[in-house]
Amino acid sequence: MPILKANAYGHGLVRVAQLMEQLGADYLGVAVLEEGILLREKGITIPILVLGGILGNQVPHFLNHKLTITASSIDKLLQIEEAAGQMKCRAKVHLKIDTGMERIGVHYYSAEEFLKTSLRCKNVEVEGIFSHFANSDASDPGFTQMQLDRFKEVLSLYNKLSVKPPQLKHMANSGAILQVPESYFDLVRPGILLYGVYPSQEVKKSIKVKSALAWKSKVVYFKAVKPEHPVGYGSTWSSDHLVRTVTVPVGYGDGYFRNMSHKAEVIIRRKRYPVVGTIAMDQIVVNIEKDAAYNEDEVILLGESDKVSISCEDLAEWAHTIPYEILTNINTRVPRVYKRG
Ligand SMILES: Cc1ncc(COP(=O)(O)O)c(C=O)c1O
Repeated sequence: MPILKANAYGHGLVRVAQLMEQLGADYLGVAVLEEGILLREKGITIPILVLGGILGNQVPHFLNHKLTITASSIDKLLQIEEAAGQMKCRAKVHLKIDTGMERIGVHYYSAEEFLKTSLRCKNVEVEGIFSHFANSDASDPGFTQMQLDRFKEVLSLYNKLSVKPPQLKHMANSGAILQVPESYFDLVRPGILLYGVYPSQEVKKSIKVKSALAWKSKVVYFKAVKPEHPVGYGSTWSSDHLVRTVTVPVGYGDGYFRNMSHKAEVIIRRKRYPVVGTIAMDQIVVNIEKDAAYNEDEVILLGESDKVSISCEDLAEWAHTIPYEILTNINTRVPRVYKRG
């Protein structure tokens, strides 16, 4: 179940979904109803699970678009049961068990009543049951193992109730795919790993991946800046000698975070150069010192050119965040261009 939420981690929801469908994915995972509806409207026909919590008035829309619903409490399960009854159809649901995230889902220690209620529902097909790891990308496996044990404990309730568990039991996100094969069950839910980025620095890199995405722009302006002539808003940077600079049309309005100011670098003509001054909404200025660069030259913000590279992790470090936030914040005004590798 490739996870395609937040515009497929910035890569473009519809195109990634089409590719995944072509490649034979059994299921897609998204976060919210609207993402699922968009995929149906664009002709995606394979099953789609909406992983997030639901509001009661959304249930008919799930049913109309044949989207699989996450049932995360007894109340919500009964809302689904009632709406499906009124619409004279069967709702497909996956039960969400909270094994240690404290976000949505029924606590593992009160799951029995939840499972029993689900077995009584007539208008609901319980196709799956799942949980989510809080720390599966950490080097210390303790909390992850505890969550896995709790999930298994819940699954064993089916045995106790003498009924077969749902067909699709699942728990593994990227961290667990890399580190906890025991958590694979019937399907895995890769998010960031699918896009070629590791979920953390410390995770065991047991599968080799390569970033699917490069972020590029072009030089739109060249100038020479005299000593003590500050660059950009707030006049936060100036040189003590004459430098050449180029201006690049990207900024925090595109998701090139402002708090990377005075840290970020870009690649021009196979060399890394510093971004100087404060990152603005739509433009950055790059100090190329005495080197040559011309209008229209390619500027790599994230990606590689020969042996020189800037990774998603680099941007995350400069912005004091995690790679997930870098990818999901690349704004929709940045055109996506798709190429077969
Ligand atoms: C329920 C669920 N499963 C899987 C994932 C994928 O996570 P990751 O990108 O760490 O693989 C997410 C994302 O946070 C999620 O919320």
